[in-house]
Amino acid sequence: MVKRIAVLTSGGDAPGMNAALRSVIRAGLYHGKEMYVIYDGYRGLLEGDIHQVNKDFTSDIINRGGTIIRSARVPEMKEEATQKKCAQILADYEIDALIGIGGDGTYRGLAALHKQGVKVVGIPGTIDNDVGSTEETIGFSTALNTICDCVDKLKDTSGSHQRCSLIEVMGRDCGDLAMYAALAEGAEGVICVEHPLHEDKLFRKLRKMKAMNKSHAIILVSENLYDIKELAKKIEDATGFDTRTEVLGRLQRGGSPSAHDRILAARYGALAVQTLVDGGGGVVTASIGGEYTTVPIEEAVEMKHRHKHGLRDLIDMLQ
Ligand code: F6P
Repeated sequence: MVKRIAVLTSGGDAPGMNAALRSVIRAGLYHGKEMYVIYDGYRGLLEGDIHQVNKDFTSDIINRGGTIIRSARVPEMKEEATQKKCAQILADYEIDALIGIGGDGTYRGLAALHKQGVKVVGIPGTIDNDVGSTEETIGFSTALNTICDCVDKLKDTSGSHQRCSLIEVMGRDCGDLAMYAALAEGAEGVICVEHPLHEDKLFRKLRKMKAMNKSHAIILVSENLYDIKELAKKIEDATGFDTRTEVLGRLQRGGSPSAHDRILAARYGALAVQTLVDGGGGVVTASIGGEYTTVPIEEAVEMKHRHKHGLRDLIDMLQ
């Protein structure tokens, strides 16, 4: 039976990680478990930075961005020697199960520890929404709201100057932030892996807008695809639209989590603990078709990010 449960946050932080931490710790205490936090993700685990916590630890964190137990990227987790060391440290501390909150990299670390005999549960937390085993990750909704807030502001100044704004958003290899923001903002264009750039089509549209004296054009671009400044120059040369670039960067990762992310975090956290209480493990929590469920971690790490059905067509239809 699981008696001691530890929790860590890992990879890029995401708004709502604290709410997930709160949910895990409170659900664990509710079920009579001893709860532990590990600071700085897997790095803290390797250093034995493991501390028992009580309910007070989780007071006033539900609305806080970032992660109060901090996060880290630890490439050494790919090495078996490091994985074995982590498993040994958890055994030394008599930790019976580990809950990891994060994205793809976090899941790979958990899957490796699972192979070393550690009971693990993963909770999807990343602004990218790129975790294949679930339709929703903690942090995506907040980051999307942040992007929309920025784009609303950019529309004001873009309109005053009759400009085209090229706005680069995060997402690693996943276009969800760009596509959902384009839909929510009624953007004139979106460029991402799932919706690649068709230069002729975009330039034609912008030329037409310019000819109609439209006040501004908004184009969302996913990171890691283009040199956004070069692309802006190309657009300016081809369309005559005065074009400016904005890279929203890590601003997208900060801020108080949306109500949606807080509730998602509460659901996933409680489900992760319940899974362990019921004797399960080696899984990740997921939201699929409106249901909260779990998926075996070996399968989860192999799943490709789910393309959102009909999103691309809807964007095209409404542009
Ligand atoms: O995974 C979250 C994310 O913000 C990605 O969108 C981005 O590519 C990456 O992290 C940036 O990571 P870092 O802050 O470590 O440079």
